[in-house]
Amino acid sequence: MDSILVRGGRALTGRIPIAGSKNACLTLMPAALLTDEPLTLTNAPRLADVRTMATLLQSLGCEVAHLQDGRVLVVGAETIASHRADYDIVRRMRASVLVLGPLLAREGRAIVSLPGGCAIGARPVDLHLQALAALGAELDLRDGYVHAAAPRGLVGARFAFPIVSVGATENLMMTATLARGTTVIENAACEPEIVDLARCLRRMGAAIEGEGTGTIVVEGVERLHGATHPVIADRIELGTYMLAPAIAGGEVELVGGERGLVAAFADKLEATGIEIAETPGGLRVARPGDGIRPVDVVTEPFPGFPTDLQAQMMALLTLAEGTSRLEERIFENRFMHAPELMRMGARIDVHGGTATVTGVDALRGAPVMATDLRASVSLILAGLAAEGETRVARVYHLDRGYERVEEKLSACGAAIERVAESKSETG
Ligand code: UD1
Repeated sequence: MDSILVRGGRALTGRIPIAGSKNACLTLMPAALLTDEPLTLTNAPRLADVRTMATLLQSLGCEVAHLQDGRVLVVGAETIASHRADYDIVRRMRASVLVLGPLLAREGRAIVSLPGGCAIGARPVDLHLQALAALGAELDLRDGYVHAAAPRGLVGARFAFPIVSVGATENLMMTATLARGTTVIENAACEPEIVDLARCLRRMGAAIEGEGTGTIVVEGVERLHGATHPVIADRIELGTYMLAPAIAGGEVELVGGERGLVAAFADKLEATGIEIAETPGGLRVARPGDGIRPVDVVTEPFPGFPTDLQAQMMALLTLAEGTSRLEERIFENRFMHAPELMRMGARIDVHGGTATVTGVDALRGAPVMATDLRASVSLILAGLAAEGETRVARVYHLDRGYERVEEKLSACGAAIERVAESKSETG
């Protein structure tokens, strides 16, 4: 397994292109199951999770072509050969559960493994199941699998989510496109990935309105057809790279970045003293000479501060001039990066869902280990600012969600490289 070596202390200057959104792509790909015509996704990110979703769809009988070096994906579900999403694939990636609704809507049956444990909390799928049951799905949990059937077809209904769930909103939206009648989704997630999915489904012939608000209305149609859809920019990759010059110093342009995708995060970053400006091609982020001011952060569903940027923000706040509080309200156990940052000299106190971070003058490089995707990249950000060398081990998490992180950062002057485990162990 590879490691990433970072030698800290270099200010960054340059441009970083922002890729298509991982999370959007992972829900757009299963949407192809809703039609027998091909769905073409442009601006696709080249990531391990996208390849895992492709493998899952292929196991169901889809054809998946990666064109233009993986930037364009064509998913064709002309015939569904299998209705079973196997544990071997689902356990690797929770987003696999997004095939459940589309398979059921198209075929009237689906068997999907339960995702099992996850490093960032229980993350059950009960809301996905409740939402599908509301449309008349018959659900049976046995042998670690959800057996779903809709022998007489699905019927639109009103469903109010008890808590906001991105994935469950996506599953219900996709399923409702082919149900008979009207589905009203209340307390729906408002994330940009939901808006992107709605746009894509409309291109495929679906009747949806209200995406981006708490109430989404889907009018079922007889059939959907093929379409071509560009994946939106990855707001989490954008926020992550906005933090790179913030923590390391310097000035970087994020090409393709839009402030509206990360507004709550950008407001907090500015409150720390970082400068953000819109440019014709994206956003420019600069750290003026002064220190970082502490801020308090609470993670919330969109448009609040995203949980997927909490770890990276914490890396910056370890160097603030004062004490910051980060409250995690979306996932339990999402502070696994804290002990690793502490090995680099950070002062962090975690109590339940709140981390209190007392800024230190400097971080020191250390061997650290990543425990999930966003935690991994927070350690790389910390490494950019730390004195000496930081080695981030087990970077397969990183490859699930960040395209060529070392190339993007080294193009801006960072001293960062990927090394094979054997070399990193000896060197
Ligand atoms: C998606 C994102 C993930 C992000 C998260 C929150 C993808 C592939 N992943 O995950 O990067 O961190 O949104 O913005 O898009 N919950 C239940 N029952 C369910 C489903 C969820 O209790 O059936 C809980 C979860 O444990 C969590 C909360 O609801 O506490 C929100 O999770 P959810 O929005 O569903 O996250 P995902 O869609 O899995």
